[in-house]
Amino acid sequence: MPTPESQRPNITDKKISIAPSVMCADLCNLETDIRELEKSGINLLHFDLMDAHFVPNMPIGLALIEQLRQKTDCAFDIHLMVENNDFFVEAVANLCVQQIAVHAESATHLDRTLSVIQAHGIKAGVALNPATPLSAIAYVIDRLDFVLIMTVNPGFAGQKLVPSTLQKISDCRSFLNERGAHLPIEVDGNVSFENIPKMVAAGADILVGGTSSVFHKSGSHAENIQQIHQAISLGLTERGM
Ligand code: DX5
Ligand code: ZN
Repeated sequence: MPTPESQRPNITDKKISIAPSVMCADLCNLETDIRELEKSGINLLHFDLMDAHFVPNMPIGLALIEQLRQKTDCAFDIHLMVENNDFFVEAVANLCVQQIAVHAESATHLDRTLSVIQAHGIKAGVALNPATPLSAIAYVIDRLDFVLIMTVNPGFAGQKLVPSTLQKISDCRSFLNERGAHLPIEVDGNVSFENIPKMVAAGADILVGGTSSVFHKSGSHAENIQQIHQAISLGLTERGM
């Protein structure tokens, strides 16, 4: 049975959330991994749904999300990396997920897709590839609950940070502030122990943890999450929080 939310420790460090990336977990022993993460205070899980078209990979599918939904009451954060956003939005909206991000690069009718997500009572976000300018969200800011800044090119774990994305996180924070939109910024890709302080200092609020942090081979999940908290503290100090 999932651990009731009220009995789990709060994972946030002054509103910074950690979202382990499920594609980086031990997919043959997923329930064991999820239980360990829950014990470490995690209450948000990131799912990368890929279609092998928008990105050339397909690590997890709808059935896995559906089955895992019965095993945990963590919030589910769905990152769609697909061409047919409307099909996948409808498919995951019925699986009791809490937030969905669609890529600006593949959403033909972005405003409509975001409004469909919100009509399901689900938080809506736009994901931006490293090369996509922030102007892609300028006219949908009123529809947004969060922004997902890709800090690697999407599709694969274990990549190196695209250096310009650190500046982009900071630019995104300014872009949102200038428009009076104080939305959370999620960062995804090489969110490592080394990069976390810089990302948090730049304005990141939700950290997707993959092979370079939560699932780093050097420690247990609990040890890695402890190390992430330390890295968050460094970033928050620099951010003045
Ligand atoms: C890509 C995935 C990965 C995942 C891997 O779309 O979402 O970025 O988080 O994390 P790292 O980069 O730490 O292996
Ligand atoms: Zn992702």
